Amino acid sequence: MRLEPQEQAMLDGEQGRATQKAMQILVALGKIYGAERMLPVRSVQIAGVSYDNLGEAGLQFLTEMAQGGGKARVLTTLNPAGMDIENWQALGIPAAFAENQQRVIDTFARMGVMTTCTCTPYLVGNLPRFGEHIAWAESSAVCYANAVLGARSNREGGPSALAASLTGVTPEYGYHRDENRLPDICVRVEATLTENDQFGALGKAMGEKLRSLGKSVPYIRGIQDASLESLKSFCASLATYGGMALFHMLGITPEASSLKPPEAETNLTLAEIEAAHAALYDADEAEIDFVSLGCPHLSIAEIARIARLLEGKRVTKEFWITTARPTKQIADRLGYTAVIEAAGAKFAADACCVVAPVRGRFQAMATDSAKACYYASGKHGFKTLLKPFDEVVQEALR
Ligand code: F3S
Repeated sequence: MRLEPQEQAMLDGEQGRATQKAMQILVALGKIYGAERMLPVRSVQIAGVSYDNLGEAGLQFLTEMAQGGGKARVLTTLNPAGMDIENWQALGIPAAFAENQQRVIDTFARMGVMTTCTCTPYLVGNLPRFGEHIAWAESSAVCYANAVLGARSNREGGPSALAASLTGVTPEYGYHRDENRLPDICVRVEATLTENDQFGALGKAMGEKLRSLGKSVPYIRGIQDASLESLKSFCASLATYGGMALFHMLGITPEASSLKPPEAETNLTLAEIEAAHAALYDADEAEIDFVSLGCPHLSIAEIARIARLLEGKRVTKEFWITTARPTKQIADRLGYTAVIEAAGAKFAADACCVVAPVRGRFQAMATDSAKACYYASGKHGFKTLLKPFDEVVQEALR
């Protein structure tokens, strides 16, 4: 790779051990993927934050980077942690876990990383513009940034995202290059979809179908409208079930109109989308003992919707509402938090039900997120019930 003098100095260790290690990681990645140079990045989002995923080995790596003088050089935010950092006791998180999770957060803070823990950083100030190069790690957010915002990111791992933060650069390969952003199959969606769970089912059906066809960047026709919330649900699901980090949706996403639709074509029928939905519905309603909304993290509009549905009522099940801390603070000021907590539901700000240590605590979960179903089943062993947003709230009240 051709390095700029400043980048070579980092690699030579002139800016400390951690920066040197970070540049070594990026150069190794660049060589593997055939990058010729580094690109400056405008922002970073780091995944691998929950102690449940990191463990002591992961924390040890972070500690060495902090002790080696590592400092974030660009706006850097974090993915969800394994608990609400301010209110973990209410969620039944064990004290030993909380202590270790706090060590992780403190270590990131020492490196100048903003400890805003969320998978929707674009809702709380880490919002890249069209064409901007970034290095993000959370798969749903990478897909949203690439497709909906038109920014440019590969799907980073935890170490490579941290390395990009500590150096301010990333190797130029993958979705940073125009030729890799071209669609390779046209998908016509033959259904009218409105709710998050439907867009999640669409992501599952499309992800699995295209994966089996060996395609990775769909050009999607037939979607009339899609809200921010539906798109974040779709991105999360497409990334989970198809491993995809970019799509183009005609009339919705910014690059679609400037691209030539590919000749390869397939369609997705309502029946296929409904079958994908039904596959995530393996629990009996009577078995539901856990309800969760906020995968990906909720917008303030979604929190307002929950408050309207819960006003004056009382939940009968453990109900977690996962969102970014700054969004929760807006909810506090607008009175939504008081309404929701008076109903007995719990905010899990900073957190997510997938990376929290909840294995064995519940048997079946109701949610509107196809991604949450995948991980709740695979990681925690829960049965799942995928439902529309309002009906998920009704499950908590049943
Ligand atoms: Fe976010 Fe956790 Fe879902 S990181 S996308 S809430 S699995």
